[in-house]
Amino acid sequence: MLERTAAEVVIPTAASDGAGVRLKRSIATRTLDNLDPFFLFDHFGSENSGDYLAGFPMHPHRGIETITYMLDGSVAHRDSLGNSGVIGAGDVQWMTAGSGILHEEMPKLGPRRLDGFQIWVNLPAKLKMTRPRYQDVPAASIPEVLRADGTRVRVVAGAVEGVQGAVKEIFAEPTYLDVALPAGARFEQPVTRGHTALLYVFQGEVHVGGAEASRGAGIPSPRLVILSDGDVVRVHAGAVPSRFLLLSAQPLRESAVRYGPFVMNTQQEIAQALADLRNGTFIRE
Ligand code: FE2
Repeated sequence: MLERTAAEVVIPTAASDGAGVRLKRSIATRTLDNLDPFFLFDHFGSENSGDYLAGFPMHPHRGIETITYMLDGSVAHRDSLGNSGVIGAGDVQWMTAGSGILHEEMPKLGPRRLDGFQIWVNLPAKLKMTRPRYQDVPAASIPEVLRADGTRVRVVAGAVEGVQGAVKEIFAEPTYLDVALPAGARFEQPVTRGHTALLYVFQGEVHVGGAEASRGAGIPSPRLVILSDGDVVRVHAGAVPSRFLLLSAQPLRESAVRYGPFVMNTQQEIAQALADLRNGTFIRE
């Protein structure tokens, strides 16, 4: 059993996207374009409505999956396929854009803060033009594993101790866990060798790896931690309650060309997406 360790710790960068949403970006930055197959990692969290109310007005996607997970507040969405709804606290929307959708994602003014994540997972060449698909998972349908020591794991995708995640049948075979640890608690999770894996620490501080890692300083929040390859990851919380996402997925190892909200294999396919938008042939369904 090879243990995964913290290969690199990434400090999120302040970014602005959509019509002016201020967020923290860890993947799709100047220093980290992608972490195959993850092509974007955004954390939006603010108590100031001016940071998020402008939202993400109607925009296209093609060639990727976009995954939105809300911790607090809510986002109203509607799209070119006729879907609409609200993603609220604890809910997940796993959207396979495939051949193309046009949608808007508008944070709503709430009594508290807006807090959540959006991640993009690239699709392989053979699925880039697949039919768009949604898996909308309300908070109550996301399985939770509760342990005697107070650890709580929400299983969005993948499996923890035989508990299967809510999101299924995704090409990248992803694991997406939200792990909350009491101070000093330990957590261990198998991760398929060869899969890209990362942690995103958003509360408290954690140590990654075995005894040796425990002696050094913890990794504070917010940080994205790129894990080395291996079969298992061990994380333990520092002196305060800590919370992180654990993500893993199968890398595609294909050529990828990104242009705004599109990720395709070739420049020609990007040009085709732009031509389709101009010609009104972007939406296939
Ligand atoms: Fe979007």
